[in-house]
Amino acid sequence: MSISLENSLNQKMVDIFNSLSLDPKFAFVKVSDRPDLSDFQCNGALALAKTEKKNPREIATQIASELEKDSAFSKISVDGPGFLNLTLSDDFIAQVMNETSKDERFGVAKTTNPRKIVMDFGGPNVAKALHVGHLRSAVIGESIRRIEVFAGHEVISDVHLGDWGTQMGMILSEIILQDGDLSKTQTYNIEEISSFYKKANIRCKEDENAKEKARQITAELQNGNPEYVKAWQHLRQESLNAIKQNYEILDANFDMWLGESDAHQTCGEVVKMAEQQGLSEVDDGATIMRLADDSKPPVILVKSDGGFGYQLTDIATIKMRVDDLKAQEIIYVVDKRQSLHFEQIFEVAEKLQLAPNVCFKHVGFGTVNGADGKPFKTRDGGVMNLEDLINMSLDKVRESLPENADGYTADDINQMAKQIAIGAIKFQDLKNNTGSGYIFDIDDFAKFEGKTGPYIQYAIARINSILRKSELAPSDVVITNKEERDLALKIAQLNSVIMRAEAEKEPSIISDYTYNLAQVFSSFYNASPIMNEEDKNKASSRLRLAKLVRDILTLNLYLMGIEAPEAMLKK
Ligand code: ARG
Repeated sequence: MSISLENSLNQKMVDIFNSLSLDPKFAFVKVSDRPDLSDFQCNGALALAKTEKKNPREIATQIASELEKDSAFSKISVDGPGFLNLTLSDDFIAQVMNETSKDERFGVAKTTNPRKIVMDFGGPNVAKALHVGHLRSAVIGESIRRIEVFAGHEVISDVHLGDWGTQMGMILSEIILQDGDLSKTQTYNIEEISSFYKKANIRCKEDENAKEKARQITAELQNGNPEYVKAWQHLRQESLNAIKQNYEILDANFDMWLGESDAHQTCGEVVKMAEQQGLSEVDDGATIMRLADDSKPPVILVKSDGGFGYQLTDIATIKMRVDDLKAQEIIYVVDKRQSLHFEQIFEVAEKLQLAPNVCFKHVGFGTVNGADGKPFKTRDGGVMNLEDLINMSLDKVRESLPENADGYTADDINQMAKQIAIGAIKFQDLKNNTGSGYIFDIDDFAKFEGKTGPYIQYAIARINSILRKSELAPSDVVITNKEERDLALKIAQLNSVIMRAEAEKEPSIISDYTYNLAQVFSSFYNASPIMNEEDKNKASSRLRLAKLVRDILTLNLYLMGIEAPEAMLKK
């Protein structure tokens, strides 16, 4: 038996539907829309009435009389045109809680159909510092990665480094211009490399010749000019080291650190395939593929200068992920402003039959904005570096923590500040619907109250302290008041919450639930004392519920990529 509450209720319904020869596809329950009337409802009788050509109330009543034989329910009613309202018995809820607390997955089912998923997130470009735009890809991507793994899928994450585009030729060209040649390239560190890039960027904007030169060098690099390749390797490696440090702070995990350059050879193969299948054409010197919907711009496979561009690289990468990694699903966590790009490359992959039966998904996210609602900028109007943003947040959190505290070393406090700051940044991001943008609120994001990461971390620390202080051990759950009952029913929603977040690739479903659970726990704890409860059975039952809440909050934070400190200090 599956111990998730919703699943076990569904199973009960399916059995009854089968015994009454009713189509079990309508046998599903959902959390009640009317919590004042019931815990769960089933609307299947209404749908069945049409196919069975019967009165829905009659069908519902028939089902109800079967349900009444089951001690899991304390009340069954047929309401309105044929809604079935189900109220669970306290004993049954207690039993579900006991089973949930014994299960290491807290009742969350593992998929019976595991898929091999390649996740593409990160996407930083060589020689450019990570900026605030990279935050969401890392944070949302990592969260979805953890959710998919927890659900039982096999996930390979690939950072897909932007290491092959025109910016590479621009930097090489800039170095040559300043140094005369590339002989000193190997000595340059990441700051120097970024500064070459910045200068190159300005120069190429102003000077058409410089731009043309950069384009030529890029094409030669892509064709394997050994001197360029050697210099490029150093630039790439230096950048990669810096990029890895950024992702380490954010605890975003990649299994593969491949880049656009790794798809180069396959790009050539894809172009040939398109030509051979008669799907490409030459237009103004470029090789293009038209799409079914001619209002969409065609995909450029080979540019008129012979270079391979961004679109072809992504298409070739699909082929590699399918051929080499055996991907069954590919998820891209990339700014939603690139959605046309993804529609285009998915269609081309389909036309070329590069990925039969592979499911593609672009999880497009909105921008991180400043107080003015426009993409977040530094005070002087520049792009906000990710590292600066993290440091700014760390400073803010440090202000709210004591400098020293009994039993804590400076390192402990530092570690706590980091967990709180990163937790606050991530929670602020993941509490928003992925598709919408949000305002990065430096004043509120790390508050201990409200819908924030620290609020959840604090709830966990508080329960830790209760568990530490109590002399009792958690024992079997008994439901003795409304707050315990509400809390237990909230806990029982975990499975459906995680399933929905997985299906919709939407971590905010988990952050919403996590915040609600912490709030419901708060009301429970106010109404149901543990330390001062004289009845030992009640007290140790509440301890078990508290521990369960602590473990679920911790799991949910983990699924959002957030760590929970054992204890939290406050100034
Ligand atoms: N490097 C790209 C950029 O900065 C993002 C890459 C996104 N991933 C992808 N597979 N296209 O815009």
